[in-house]
Amino acid sequence: MFYFGADYYPEHWPQARWAEDARLMAEAGINVVRMAEFAWSLLEPENGRFDFTWLDKAINTLSGHGIQVVLGTPTATAPPWLMSQQEELFLVDKSGVRRTFGLRRAYCPNNPLYHEHTRRIVIALAQHYQGETAVIGWQIDNEFGDRCYCSICQQAFQTWLQKKYGTLAELNQKWGTIFWSHVYTEWSQIPVPLDTIASHNPGLNLDYYRFMSDSYRAYQKSQIDILRQYMPHHFMTHNLMGFKYPFLNNYDMTEDLDLVSWDNYVRMQWLEETNVSPTMPALAHDTMRSLKKKNFWVMEQQSGSGGWEIVSPHLKPGELRLWTYQAIAHGADGMVYFRWRTALHGTEQYWHGILDHHGIPGRRYAEVKQIGQELQEIGDLIAGSPVHAEIAIMQSYDTRFAFQVQPNNRRFQYESHIQAVYNGFYDLNIPVDIVSEKDGLQGYKAVIVPAMYVLTEETAANLEAFAAAGGVVVFTPRTGVKDADNAVVNMKLPGLVAKMSGVEVEEYVSLPADQENTIQFGLPDLEEEFPASVWADVLETKGAKVAGWYADDFYANKPAATLNKFGDGTVIYLGTMGDSLFYGAMARWIAALAVVEPLLATPAGVEVAARTTPRGKLLFIMNHTECTQEVVLNGRYCDMLNGETAVSGTITLPFKAVVILLTDKA
Ligand code: GAL
Repeated sequence: MFYFGADYYPEHWPQARWAEDARLMAEAGINVVRMAEFAWSLLEPENGRFDFTWLDKAINTLSGHGIQVVLGTPTATAPPWLMSQQEELFLVDKSGVRRTFGLRRAYCPNNPLYHEHTRRIVIALAQHYQGETAVIGWQIDNEFGDRCYCSICQQAFQTWLQKKYGTLAELNQKWGTIFWSHVYTEWSQIPVPLDTIASHNPGLNLDYYRFMSDSYRAYQKSQIDILRQYMPHHFMTHNLMGFKYPFLNNYDMTEDLDLVSWDNYVRMQWLEETNVSPTMPALAHDTMRSLKKKNFWVMEQQSGSGGWEIVSPHLKPGELRLWTYQAIAHGADGMVYFRWRTALHGTEQYWHGILDHHGIPGRRYAEVKQIGQELQEIGDLIAGSPVHAEIAIMQSYDTRFAFQVQPNNRRFQYESHIQAVYNGFYDLNIPVDIVSEKDGLQGYKAVIVPAMYVLTEETAANLEAFAAAGGVVVFTPRTGVKDADNAVVNMKLPGLVAKMSGVEVEEYVSLPADQENTIQFGLPDLEEEFPASVWADVLETKGAKVAGWYADDFYANKPAATLNKFGDGTVIYLGTMGDSLFYGAMARWIAALAVVEPLLATPAGVEVAARTTPRGKLLFIMNHTECTQEVVLNGRYCDMLNGETAVSGTITLPFKAVVILLTDKA
């Protein structure tokens, strides 16, 4: 079953309206809502007094229209009666300032009193709803993504370190605390990395980020454990924040969940430009799908202009549908729009939902209804069908965290670098998975490993085995620089993967904005040149073949990119970074080496993604541009939203259109 829904806040509206909401939802094809994730002060109006009557009534009204429910645990917004009990309930931010009441997610994740109240409300909810058949799953809290630096967290960090290192001698050695006389003689001396000082010990800082990620994971797990006791068959999820959100290790966080879901906001009030490139949600969807190697839900899909103080640019006709099918094409089995109706009160008065403030169905409702009708035709074919990728991009949270500690170059940003690499494949309509450094690599033909800064022996061995067995591995600058303790490795770069790359970095050059170089490729199928920026690794071959050279500066004519045969496979080392043309050429080169075919060739801005259904490959052709586009098909297909009529040759896609075609060539 395909889950099609809305985030619903019945508590914001008179009960007399609920039946009309449920009727309109059902009429639009909505079969699921998420509710209650911010309703703590109604569910427990005062300490220890629970009241579920209103939520029971809302669930009954909805289920009367065949609508199922995902309930949120309400712990992202604790009521004033709780938060006023103790100052230490509030999180302390990196600058040492304690949060105050007024927004949400203001709590310290390690505060024992917060844990106690969390347990009580979650147990009460679980006991009350365990027999309610309309409830199918639970969302824990809402968008975890903070770091606390308070004294409770400091103590918990010290305990975490004790468990990890055993002795202070070990910790001092791993962190290299002899530098600047930081040798700790008591666990209680160890600080948290507040930014009241300019730069902390890199080992300590990386461990703190890991510890914080573990803290939220443990907090989430404490809720999951309770809910599972009462409802072992309900799914547990959390609404993550896509690819870019950097603070928590999403691979760890989702290990304890059954279902990955995430919140997709394409056009935000905080952005200056109207359009976020469609490559960003595409990468986020692929990342979310890759976390558990399973299809996912979008738990909040933007369905109107976003806005707190400022109203973001509006959604044009067709965009809601386009974003919906983009998510589905990349593996969504659930699509829940944020929010059903725009609020009259509160910070998010201008965060527009499917319905405007007045609650009268308009253009966006009509678009949702159209999608709902389409999904009634093709939803069953789609639900559960996998996305198949032959190329993987590898990311690591240790590397992410370590780059947060030391970005290395002002112009370098790990997430943007991964996005740039991804975009090369996206433009070719080649599906990609985003794997972690710990994932198995079987089944892929090529693995791109952008800037794997913290590189362990296990990761190196994993990649070596993959290349030896015939895979293509691609490295980029800042690979293998650090060990797991965030110490610089005592070897020539790229450290542990130098051997498989057949190359060593003679020296690395950090390029500021006013210094660029040029890389000239000299391969039979790649003879172009590109601007080289941000990093220039000056390479010395140790068995690899040179693929490209620098053109300028003291390292002119030295190797900038290499290709090495390793076992049955190929290892490419790209010593510099480039523009979109550079990554486009890289993607073509890698796809050719790995023998990976694009799904379809399309004009720029027309995306193709696919799901493998029992009836064949289902292609989603999506026009993200403002113009009408033509696409030449590579065979005969059935047009699934057009009575399954046969199509071939050239098809025309108007502004923001989506065409869904089934081929039997799967
Ligand atoms: C999400 C959040 C929602 C809502 C939405 C719009 O990040 O989960 O509750 O706030 O953004 O701002």
